[in-house]
Amino acid sequence: MGKQYLDLSIAPADTAFGLMAEFDADPHPSKAKERLRETTHEYLGIAGSPTFINLAKDIVFGSVASRLQDNSTSIQPVSGTGANHLAATFLACHLRPSHVFIPAPTWINHKSIWEMAGVSVAEYSYYSSVTKEVDIVGMLNALDCAEPNDVVILQACAHNPTGVDLSKYQWMQVADLDRRKKLFVVFDSAYQGFATGDVDGDAWAVRQFTEDVLAFETHPGLCVAQSFSKNFGLYSERVGALHLIVPRHLSVQGARGELMAIVRAEYSNPPRFGASIVETILLDQDLRAQWEADLDTMSSRIRRMRCELRQRLEKETQQDWAYVETQIGMFSYTGLTCEQVSRLRNEFHVYLLPSGRLSLCGLNDGNVKYVAYAIGEVMKT
Ligand SMILES: Cc1ncc(COP(=O)(O)O)c(C=O)c1O
Repeated sequence: MGKQYLDLSIAPADTAFGLMAEFDADPHPSKAKERLRETTHEYLGIAGSPTFINLAKDIVFGSVASRLQDNSTSIQPVSGTGANHLAATFLACHLRPSHVFIPAPTWINHKSIWEMAGVSVAEYSYYSSVTKEVDIVGMLNALDCAEPNDVVILQACAHNPTGVDLSKYQWMQVADLDRRKKLFVVFDSAYQGFATGDVDGDAWAVRQFTEDVLAFETHPGLCVAQSFSKNFGLYSERVGALHLIVPRHLSVQGARGELMAIVRAEYSNPPRFGASIVETILLDQDLRAQWEADLDTMSSRIRRMRCELRQRLEKETQQDWAYVETQIGMFSYTGLTCEQVSRLRNEFHVYLLPSGRLSLCGLNDGNVKYVAYAIGEVMKT
């Protein structure tokens, strides 16, 4: 006799899981992460993904990239921090600068990274708290004291923490001095596309200095520590690149070998997943256009918040806050004192760095009025 089955009715599909199954089955091309399912989890090579490296190089150097074939080498390190660190470790050993010049103020890690590399750190004045602009005279005077083969750190755009960048004319002044004093420039490029929404415009200084290095035989060289954390929103994926225009006393192969030896001993090889996201986006015309549009949306939103904050602060304090609007990028150096900052935190639950640096990304239509009110209150006494 055949088996007897109970006549069970088939339960309808669970709505939520059914929806997920439908999503999984949807072949729409905009599902970029879906495409990454094919990503392997094998190690990348020590230098990283060659495809990613070439794309990263094009993003930062634009049309100048084609002239960097025989004189440069690029590595995919552990994001922007890793790129700064790799540059410092390499240059400390093979350029032997007597000093590295970092901006005052700057991203807090510059000092630690170079101190750990064993290079003596000197500061150049970057920002005037009186004019709320670049202290170009102080900067040029300090760099004039540098010796040949000293290193100078320049932030490519959207300076952290001041939000104040050099004008094109000021960049040219620094480039002239650099060439005359034979200084090796390390460009820290953590916000390309975030300053203005224009990927090429934000790389103007890097490309200008690179032209200079290529044009002048006596120029010691240049490197760019590039981060994709901010402009791709890939903070925890650690995506970045180091591009080195090799100092003329070294061979390109030798320099690359040394960089790879450092990497092998420190972390062996870089993470793959974030770099494959960047590759997927930059290699697809539509996704790339969407990324550029997103950068424009982000930077426009920040500019709108600056304008709104300025107007509200001027109403609250009867003071001029024009600089909040002219500063650029994610940060505003408000000029608030450490004491005012701690009152903002303790009494109003508004969080700024003790230096008075405010992140514009934290502002929105729902809280900008309250933040301006809180700042007004702590400025009263
Ligand atoms: C000026 C500057 N350089 C480098 C970095 C490092 O970025 P990441 O290591 O996340 O790529 C940052 C991040 O805040 C930065 O502001």
